[in-house]
Amino acid sequence: MEHIKIRRMRYEDIPQVVAIEKDSFKKPYPPTLIMQILSYFPEGFLVAEDVRSNKVVGYIMGLIEWNHGHIISIATSREYRRRGIGTALLKELEDILFKKYNLNCIVLEVRFNNREARMFYYRRGYMDKRLLPRYYEDNTDAILMIKKNPYREITDTSVIVNLW
Ligand SMILES: CC(C)(COP(=O)(O)OP(=O)(O)OC[C@H]1O[C@@H](n2cnc3c(N)ncnc32)[C@H](O)[C@@H]1OP(=O)(O)O)[C@@H](O)C(=O)NCCC(=O)NCCS
Repeated sequence: MEHIKIRRMRYEDIPQVVAIEKDSFKKPYPPTLIMQILSYFPEGFLVAEDVRSNKVVGYIMGLIEWNHGHIISIATSREYRRRGIGTALLKELEDILFKKYNLNCIVLEVRFNNREARMFYYRRGYMDKRLLPRYYEDNTDAILMIKKNPYREITDTSVIVNLW
């Protein structure tokens, strides 16, 4: 993580974020949607920057929905993976959603066959909540994953379950 800085996303970062998206996902988000998410909740949109080159090498997008957080997307440039950047981005977003906003939990959808991402989330405290059959446009199933706020006692997450 030497030379890597986590900071808020800026509008001028969008082309670099889109390039990482395109290289990481079969169906990347269109830039207009990324801009909408950024304007809706700028605190939840973070990038990792290599300070030697000022290049954006990773990003995470998260939103607040009802009383929980939702990770919309996370990716690290291929050549920078497995160096702790995804973990640092996730930790920073969790601090915002769990500590600052005191949300019950964070949820996300991940492709059933995305082994790397599922391992990434399992090892960082996320659990499978339920299967979302044919969730993606190519009919791949998703897993809905959840992490409860470790800083507070929660007795009821039924609202979240009922949303899907
Ligand atoms: C998931 C992703 C964001 C992780 O970013 P990263 O910067 O590599 O993250 P870190 O270096 O902090 O952690 C990597 C972790 O991913 C998991 N992982 C990555 N590759 C793996 C592999 N081949 N086998 C098993 N686990 C793997 C491990 O848990 C690993 O942690 P470890 O090194 O402590 O074992 C990155 O792999 C990525 O951009 N993937 C493509 C986009 C994507 O699938 N995003 C998630 C959509 S929900």
